[in-house]
Amino acid sequence: MTEDPRLQWLQRDQARVIHPLHNPELQRQGHVWVRGHGAVLVDADGREYLDALSGLWNVILGHGCQELADAAARQMRQLAYASGYAGSTNPWAVELAEKLTQVCYPRINRFFFTCGGAEANEAAFKTARFFWKIQGQPSKVHIISRRWAYHGTTLAAMSATGMPAYWEMFGPVVPHFSHIESPYPYRFQFTPRGPDDHRTPGQAAADLLEEEILRLGPENVAAFVGEPVQGAAGVIVPQEDYWPRVRQICDRYQVLLIADEVITGVGRTGRWFALEHYGIEPDIVTFDKGITSGYFPLGGIGVSDQIAEALDQGQGSWMHAYTYSAHPVGCAVALEVLRILHQRNLVQRAQELGKLLLEKLRTLESHPHVGQVRGLGLMCAVELVADRATKAEFPPQEAVGHRVHLATQRRGMFTRMRGDVYNLAPCYLTREDQLERMVQILADSICEVLGQG
Ligand SMILES: Cc1ncc(COP(=O)(O)O)c(C=O)c1O
Repeated sequence: MTEDPRLQWLQRDQARVIHPLHNPELQRQGHVWVRGHGAVLVDADGREYLDALSGLWNVILGHGCQELADAAARQMRQLAYASGYAGSTNPWAVELAEKLTQVCYPRINRFFFTCGGAEANEAAFKTARFFWKIQGQPSKVHIISRRWAYHGTTLAAMSATGMPAYWEMFGPVVPHFSHIESPYPYRFQFTPRGPDDHRTPGQAAADLLEEEILRLGPENVAAFVGEPVQGAAGVIVPQEDYWPRVRQICDRYQVLLIADEVITGVGRTGRWFALEHYGIEPDIVTFDKGITSGYFPLGGIGVSDQIAEALDQGQGSWMHAYTYSAHPVGCAVALEVLRILHQRNLVQRAQELGKLLLEKLRTLESHPHVGQVRGLGLMCAVELVADRATKAEFPPQEAVGHRVHLATQRRGMFTRMRGDVYNLAPCYLTREDQLERMVQILADSICEVLGQG
């Protein structure tokens, strides 16, 4: 038996634990996180790592936040759990919904709480279908999403997810889900319809939604779901004119717009919710992650006044529920997160820090294998390519992204990659010297794996 506490934990882990995205090979090289402070995670062998992704984009206030721990403990002592099923509520759920009303889109004023992002998306899809049934349009059931989307791994969320690796071994996918191409500005291409077609790439990408709605028949389409900035795909920031056109198309064909703001919500992009950047509002917004800064599992959906009215009108019940909906501890922690964000003006800080991070990352663009540096707010990515002129990717067997990931870990930084795309979404309280260190580690690691260029 090894003396190294990390290796001891890993051996025991391999015998008993099934991981999210379980992969025994990766687990053999795994970390055993035992502590955290601010933007730093500590492994069982005592090594410190800059947490470049704030956990999984969620720990927005950093690790070791005393106020959040106190809020959870206080709540657990007073009322650890009580059902939120119709006929019951708790003051923390009420207050959280009230506070969210103040920061969310103007037309979104009612909230349902879940334990996570996939659950929130399931709730959104079901609510869209419910809404159309109440409106006397029961055939509107189809959900359109996009390639590269990540909406979670429960069956319907998985079916909306646009990365085949997530469904290949779990098929068949749920019927009445389909995908259109992502607007992915670095790679999106379209063939003009003719010499008079002067559409921009953003408009052409949005028009794919119209084509898909017409292919399916508008009378069959309930909703379009999209992340304002596609996160897990490698921080795909759409063209400026993409979302406004998507909104118009949804309105034209009476299709609900669901914004999956599980990552982008609660300030991550430098605005409270990310479609604000594009001057539009969704009909349903889903959120999770940052709302409790990862200190307790809580997500949810917010719905437009029109949908809220339908929920109140329904004959009988909206038969959707989770045991842990409106969990008082989750709601109390979320309230504390919102209080801290307001008190310390941290959404603004996310915006400023994000600008700084992007600026520093842009210095990597001189490396011939850095294809693109991109970001919005405190959500950035560096896409590595084999050939910058053609944007050709590295052959997967070269595992370039994985090797860069290992190199950054040797230098004391941790994240989650998408192929050869390095994602950075540190916490809103990251210090500037830590941001600089992150960029330096990434630069050195790219040079170690791909040469100086
Ligand atoms: C945009 C988006 N939606 C949904 C989810 C799923 O959330 P959860 O893992 O809490 O189910 C994620 C998770 O990363 C996400 O990034």
